[in-house]
Amino acid sequence: HRHLLGIEGLTADEIGYLLDLADGYVDLNRQAEKKRSTLKGRTVINLFFENSTRTRTSFELAAKRLGADAINMSVATSSVKKGETLIDTAQTLNAMHPDILVVRHGDSGAVKLLSEKVHAGVINAGDGNHEHPTQALLDALTIRRRRGRIAGLKVAICGDILHSRVARSNIHLLNAIGAEVRLIAPPTLVPTAIERMGVKVYNRMEEGLEGVDIVMMLRLQLERMHGAFIPSIREYFHFYGLSYQKLAVAAPDALVMHPGPMNRGVEIDSELADDIDRSVILDQVELGVAVRQACLDVLCRNLPA
Ligand code: CP
Repeated sequence: HRHLLGIEGLTADEIGYLLDLADGYVDLNRQAEKKRSTLKGRTVINLFFENSTRTRTSFELAAKRLGADAINMSVATSSVKKGETLIDTAQTLNAMHPDILVVRHGDSGAVKLLSEKVHAGVINAGDGNHEHPTQALLDALTIRRRRGRIAGLKVAICGDILHSRVARSNIHLLNAIGAEVRLIAPPTLVPTAIERMGVKVYNRMEEGLEGVDIVMMLRLQLERMHGAFIPSIREYFHFYGLSYQKLAVAAPDALVMHPGPMNRGVEIDSELADDIDRSVILDQVELGVAVRQACLDVLCRNLPA
């Protein structure tokens, strides 16, 4: 592949190959000397039309640790603010001969459209509510390193499924590898006909969490609701916030995950989020750098020398 636009369409073998490669980078990243020259001479441009802490920083670190030149395009101070379109912006950057463009955009499909207009390889860093492939890969690596496998595990993805690109990418990946995927959400935050993706939908945490091995919590994306669905936060936490009490019906060693940024006290109890016996939220962040190194490494191999 020249681009990484989504998990949909990747085979279990391709996913496994990326995870194996990322595994090696985890160990390298824990050493004092982290820098390699694998991507020496390559240029990576981060182009983020939406805010980010984890994804943008980890792509920059990943590119630099592999010896590439990494540039962060600041959209807020760019000519996008003067009315330049997405495609003109992309073609302008493409004319400077980058090897990889890492792109986040608020509209589903915008990153694919952009990829069709440039010569560079394109990585989707999150488009609307469509896909966030590197998030699903880092989640998978976190599960695999903790549990030794993904196939056969019961995974519950809980909360604002409707607006979540993380949920969609995880459903594709977990299905491809052979995990059992459950979605738990209020009826208003369940996308229409999501069962067609091969998942089971629950509206009550107490039912959906029964016996699960992994609990993935999602952020309530109030900024995407445009006033259509603003629940009372207190009520949302009561019914859909993960607490020790609700977690008690999951497997005794169930892992708690969250892609971040998290709203403490909204979708997750603050103490549980910090409980290192249950929560692997910071492991996810650490492994995100390694996964992004693996993705940059593989895509650059497919580019002209
Ligand atoms: N998980 C995630 O994509 O976080 P950021 O929005 O901070 O990149």
